This record gives sequence, structure tokens and C-alpha cells, in this order.
Amino acid sequence: MQSLAHTVGQALSACVTCVRDHPSFYFRVNAGDPGSVPPPVPGRALAGRVLAQRYELRQQLAVGGMAEVWEADDLILGRAVAVKILHPQFANDPVVRQRFHIEAIAAARLVDPSIVAIYDTVDLDGCDAIVMELVRGRTLRDFLDERGALDPIEVVHIGAQVAGALAVAHRAGVIHRDIKPANVLLSDDGRVLVTDFGIAKVLDEPDLTRTAQVLGTVKYLAPEQVEGGPVDGRTDLYALGAVLYEAVCGEAPFRADTPAALALARMHRDPSRPSMVLKEIPEDLETTIMRALSRAPSGRFASANDMRAALLSTRLDVLADPASETKPITPTPTRVRAKRGRSGIIVTLVVVAVLLLIALLVANTDAGKTLFSGQPATTTTAPRQLAISTAHSFDPADRTGFENEAAAMNAVDADSLTSWSTDVYSTRQFGNLKTGVGLVIDLATEGPIGSVTIDSPSSGWSLDAYTATGSPTTLIGWGSVRAGATNIRGPLTLDLHGANGNAVLLWITQLKEAPSFQVTITDIIVTS
Ligand SMILES: Nc1ncnc2c1ncn2[C@@H]1O[C@H](COP(=O)(O)OP(=O)(O)OP(=O)(O)O)[C@@H](O)[C@H]1O
Ligand SMILES: [Mg+2]
Repeated sequence: MQSLAHTVGQALSACVTCVRDHPSFYFRVNAGDPGSVPPPVPGRALAGRVLAQRYELRQQLAVGGMAEVWEADDLILGRAVAVKILHPQFANDPVVRQRFHIEAIAAARLVDPSIVAIYDTVDLDGCDAIVMELVRGRTLRDFLDERGALDPIEVVHIGAQVAGALAVAHRAGVIHRDIKPANVLLSDDGRVLVTDFGIAKVLDEPDLTRTAQVLGTVKYLAPEQVEGGPVDGRTDLYALGAVLYEAVCGEAPFRADTPAALALARMHRDPSRPSMVLKEIPEDLETTIMRALSRAPSGRFASANDMRAALLSTRLDVLADPASETKPITPTPTRVRAKRGRSGIIVTLVVVAVLLLIALLVANTDAGKTLFSGQPATTTTAPRQLAISTAHSFDPADRTGFENEAAAMNAVDADSLTSWSTDVYSTRQFGNLKTGVGLVIDLATEGPIGSVTIDSPSSGWSLDAYTATGSPTTLIGWGSVRAGATNIRGPLTLDLHGANGNAVLLWITQLKEAPSFQVTITDIIVTS
């Protein structure tokens, strides 16, 4: 205990050194996440300036602790970009400048729809800048400030996307190290993107930050970061747990008057369970968050993918019991507690990923095909085909909102000779223009939706299925993925587990294999 306190003391004094040596980190360490943005840097009349003869700065979007972010025009490619310009006070600090460019190089290796793409770096005329994908929308910080606590379904959706982005980064040997709401961008077209692998460190390279800058915002720091100990992917999972805790409860897991006390609190105790703070929270979500917030990395999820799977398997209608004994942090495979339906909560089933996988495997067996093709079970009502009132394309990243709309009804006309197709893209990931394209099937009546069967001649494509009442115009509006499949070949049936609604979104997340990157759907059947 004594040695821990000693180490913490060392880390904190190192932190103070860092604050003294690098004034910008003062914002990170002392002001916390929301207040960390200093006012616009005076005297930087950059509007209209062209960086590297290519990026014309239009308007300042925001100012962070280390840099300011501008919207700019890429004069060569003729598109809008975001340019992050290192504050001028770092011009003479080679360590910070080097780290800034290493950030860009590390992050540029990461290609994923949930990671802000890095296009270029600039190191000219005393100006260090990173050129990146411009995300029109807002940060999760802004969203939390406006909304307070979010609905569990939104928390699951955002958490799963961030965990997916982290999985990609961790596989590439990059740890984010500064996961916080200000670094999660919510785009107007419904995407969730992680930005700012700003203090991410390439695992197998020398440690530029060894001089013990305890970076990252204190609220989301993992205990091992506070201690100045070794970090790995699980460090990011702790920070994500803290972000999701705040998103679900409307307040961060620890509170204290000073950054030092805030940092130390997480070393001595676990936070109160979210159900103690907020009355109604799904039990699975609470378990996932508390597991991510385990003080020892070994108590957390082993990987970001595991955390993502846990989030996606959240049963939203099974609430945590605040009065129950302290629950084990590791989820138990069998549960004896009965479901407690409560009015006022979202009674929506999000399918357990493992069960989904089993369902998909079963669906591909002969017995499964029989099961999914509508043969009556012994005691349950036979599935029946649900009447479809209309179908329309869904392309929120496109100005029109549609893609090949004129052909959409071909996918539901029970005629296998007619079909709807996506556009042809330059890559299977939509040429990085968007994260997906979809088809919405509107049902004639609202009720439980049992399954959807899709017939397609395309090979190797991937799909997520959503259900809703009404027809949300953003992907986030559709809530969590109900079912999904990858590497699809031939007809596919997805079990939607009787989710209530009157619309199904088939969201294509990867196009078919070469030569032409698109997906064609000939027929869709929805059953109860
Ligand atoms: N790619 C982007 N597209 C659009 N806006 C962005 C982009 N990247 C950052 N921003 C905006 O700029 C703001 C400042 O970002 P920046 O990363 O400099 O600071 P921060 O994350 O708030 O804090 P810190 O300096 O601690 O990282 C963000 O909060 C966001 O509003
Ligand atoms: Mg940032």
C-alpha cells in the first residue's frame, strides 16, 4: 500500500513537472474534459491562409489544449477537410512537434469507418498541422452536455462503435490513451467516429512520453496511467467504461475537488454502480461498464472486441437491481433472475451476439432452414409473412438520402428477376465515402418482427439489420443492431427475435467481392 502511494505520489509529481514544462497540458490535467478548451488563440488571423499551397483555411472550428481545428478546402482534391494546427507556443519544442507528427503517422495507418481518417501532415513555414477527414456533427461531449444522461440504447450504440474502432487500433498496435467524450465525434449522418490518437503511442517504438507526462484527461484515466505504469489496450477499455458510465448516469464515475484527488480516487475504490446513481439501467450494461472499470487490467475485458460483443448483447429489458448484493464483475453465463418488464423503459431485445452466431449457424443447416422457413414449432404460433407496404433506399451520407431509389421496390416485389442494387464503388468499403448503404422495408402494420430473409446473388458482402417504429432518417435513430452477418453467400435469414416495430433497415456494411464492388438484392421476405 505504501509503495503504491509512493508510486502515485511520483506520478503526480511527474504530472506537475509536465504541467510546468508543457503549459498546454495544464488544461488536460487541471480543468477536466469539458472545461479543457481554452478560448480561441488571439492573434492568429489564419482565415484565408493557404497551408502547403493546398489547404485554404476557412473557419476555426474549435481550440483544444494542444491545437486548434479549422475547416479548410483542399484546393487540389476540391473537398472540405479538417486541419489541426499545433499551437504556436510549441514551435520551439521538438519533442511535442515530433509527437504531433508521430500521432498523424500512427493514426494514418488506421482505416476504419469509425476512425477519423488522416489525409496529410504539414510541417512548413513554422506551422505543424494534420489534415484529416472533416466530420460534420458534434462531439459526444457536446451531446452529453446538452442531453445529460443518454438512453441505454444510445449508450450501447455509441459504446459498440467506439469499441470497434479501438479493436482496429489495438490490432495495429496503437493505443489511444485519451478516450474521452471530446474525442468521440457524432456525425450528422449518424456515424460515431473516434479521433485524436493524439497521444497514442506506437507500441513497438521508443517511449517519447517517458518523461512521465500523465496525459489524458483525469476523469477518464485508468489507474495504471495515474501510476505511470505500463499501458495496453485495456487502458483504453477503462476510459471507454468511464465514458459510458458518464453517458448512462449523466455524471462521471468519480468526483473530487482537485485533479489529484480525482486521479487517486480510482486507485482506492470502485465507483458506485450506475443503478445506484440512476434508477433504471439494463443489468448487462451495468455489468459491462463495471467490468471495464475494474481497477486491475486483468479484471477488464481481454479485448476491445470482447467489450463490443458484450455491449451488443445487452438485454435492454432486464434491469439492474440497485438493492442487490454486490454483483460479480465478470458476467455469469446463466442467469436465474426473472425478467422484470417495467413501463417507461425501452422494451427492445438486443440479441446476444453468441446466440446470433448460433442462430446463423443453425439457419445454415438443413434443420435450421426448416426452422427458419416457417414450419410451425410444436407449441408456438407459426411465423407468417408480414405485408410490406413499401421499400426505399437509405443513404444518409448522400445529400439526397437515397441510392438507386427508383429500383427499391424491386427488392420486395416477389419477383426474383427484378432487383435493387447499390451503386458500384471503388472499394468494398464504399470507397471510404460512407460506412454503409441501406434498404428500408416499411411494414403494413406494427407488431413483433420474427425474421427477415434476403435473397441476393452477391458474394462476400456484410449486413446489419435494425428494426424500428417509424422510419428514422439517421442510423443512430435506428438504435442497436438486431442481427448481422458477414461474408454472405446465397440466401440469408436473420432472426430478429420478435422485436416490435413496423420497419426493418438492412444496412449493408461491406460490398461484395471484386470485380464490381456493389450489392444486389433480389427479394426480401419479413415474417412475424
Ligand atoms: N476531424 C474533425 N472534424 C470536425 N471537427 C473536429 C475534428 N477534430 C476535432 N474537431 C473539433 O475540434 C475540437 C478540438 O479538438 P482537439 O482534439 O484539438 O481538442 P480536444 O479533444 O477537445 O482536447 P485535447 O486538446 O485535450 O485533445 C473537438 O472537440 C471537435 O469539436
Ligand atoms: Mg481531441
